Amino acid sequence: MTPESHSQTPDRPAGDSTRPGPPPGCPAHGLGPGGLARLHESDDLKSLYEQLREKHGPVAPVLVHDDLPLWIVLGHAESQQLVRSPAQFTKDSRIWSPLRDGLVKPDHPLMPHIAWQPMCAHTEGENHHRWRGAIDTAVAATDFRSLRRYVNRSVQRVVNRFCEVGEAELVSQYAEHLPMAVMCHVLGMPDEYDDRMVQAARDMIRGTETAIASNAYVMEALNRLTVRRRKEPQDDFTGHLVSHPAGLSDEEVSQHLRVVLIAAYEATANLLANVLRQVLIDPRFRSQLNGGQMTVPQAVEQLLWDEPPFSTIFAYYAKQDTELGGQRIRKGDGLLFAPAPANVDPRVRPDPTADMQGNRSHLAFGGGTHECPGQDIGRVIAEVGVDALLMRLPDVELSCDEEELTFTESIASRHLVSLPVHFTPRPQQEITQAPSHEVDTKPPAAYDWQIGAVPRQTPAPAPEPAAVGASVGGADAGVGGVPDAGPVPAAVPVPPPAQPEPPKGAWQRFLRWWRGY
Ligand code: HEM
Repeated sequence: MTPESHSQTPDRPAGDSTRPGPPPGCPAHGLGPGGLARLHESDDLKSLYEQLREKHGPVAPVLVHDDLPLWIVLGHAESQQLVRSPAQFTKDSRIWSPLRDGLVKPDHPLMPHIAWQPMCAHTEGENHHRWRGAIDTAVAATDFRSLRRYVNRSVQRVVNRFCEVGEAELVSQYAEHLPMAVMCHVLGMPDEYDDRMVQAARDMIRGTETAIASNAYVMEALNRLTVRRRKEPQDDFTGHLVSHPAGLSDEEVSQHLRVVLIAAYEATANLLANVLRQVLIDPRFRSQLNGGQMTVPQAVEQLLWDEPPFSTIFAYYAKQDTELGGQRIRKGDGLLFAPAPANVDPRVRPDPTADMQGNRSHLAFGGGTHECPGQDIGRVIAEVGVDALLMRLPDVELSCDEEELTFTESIASRHLVSLPVHFTPRPQQEITQAPSHEVDTKPPAAYDWQIGAVPRQTPAPAPEPAAVGASVGGADAGVGGVPDAGPVPAAVPVPPPAQPEPPKGAWQRFLRWWRGY
């Protein structure tokens, strides 16, 4: 690493994490050798990022567990430069200096992120092209209209499990289930979705004691799926991976299925929980009475700015001596790509509380050659997951004060712990039937949701891609593309208050076509 202060000090050997540091509250708490911030000791990363920005500018030297040095990229422009300069930066961790120098212990807490694996997220060049090409082909074959229908049916199934009770905890009972149900279907193994699969994914992500057994459980299902698809080709994600001209082996297919399943599950569950929370606490979503101003797709985009599901990504590594954000970066240095602070870079968001109105130039899906290939699938799950839940339980309300909602935080991500709600108990719904708003005839009274529940006053024009994106059935363009940094679309007009009736007849048919379910 470049700055002298950014290297290991002789009096505290790397790996000596057992030595107690200054206690919380002491000014030296959270600081390591050279006065550098220890990211893993911070209990308020958002504030720490702003202090680092103030002190060092858009690229700051920091320490992670065992005082290993890294740069954190805080600037929006510098982050774009990082992910879009494959000649200078790679995701292949094998060139990271501390790893080459033997400073990273095998049981380092960040090893699952750092250890090189033969898969697209860790490679560049020909191998990346081969694996990523197969994934892009599989994603491109997604029929987004039927995906939206499937997500809606899954919503009904998941809600059926608690709708008669009149209360639920939406993180564990909803947000952590819906993405797994949908991803099992997308991959081609809908019958594997159950509580055990959700529990296994939770285990793997949290690295609990049973994580290894859970990983084995998930891998067995994925191996079975791979073998089955070789024998019985199908037009699903796995079918496209096994039949891709790149000729992936069974092992390559299964390993990539695992990355897709777990990454997609974790990120989408996190996003869905965050959007639900926002919808429940933010008055802009309550329509008729207070003039709601934000649609579900806009809410999803807003949360991708404010709470990107992956706060940081481990990591990019410098292939040569270079410069980034005014810092001299040495060959072999590691750099944390950090959507959370980059999304609130004051140079792109002078007012961090401002409504982004559907603008998609955030960094929640990364960028460059590794940009998330599944972003439109993630968006569809989150959008339909919120929209259909609110249609089904229109009077859903938070069961606690907003201030009582808590988050767990690590360097990699921030998670809402729980989201307790109550609503009028409702009967279960036939899954094969049309969407819930036809079955549930109770007028939503004072709880009309702006989001999707109310027809627009003027005939709907052809959707503007930047404004509605994946929320419109069939709008599946842009997989692996560059986020739209174009002009901010105007908010959808809000109908006047005196419209208590839910949409009916031709309008209802139009809405169903519009949504795709
Ligand atoms: C809200 C949901 C999601 C978010 C926020 C998200 C975010 C990300 C981010 C930040 C990256 C890393 C980009 C980089 O390294 O520069 C990534 C990579 C990836 N994502 Fe997603 N993702 C989501 C959903 C999905 C879904 C649904 C799929 C599968 C269909 C998926 C598959 C992948 C894969 C395979 C990669 C590795 C790509 C590569 O290295 O070339 N993700 N995602």
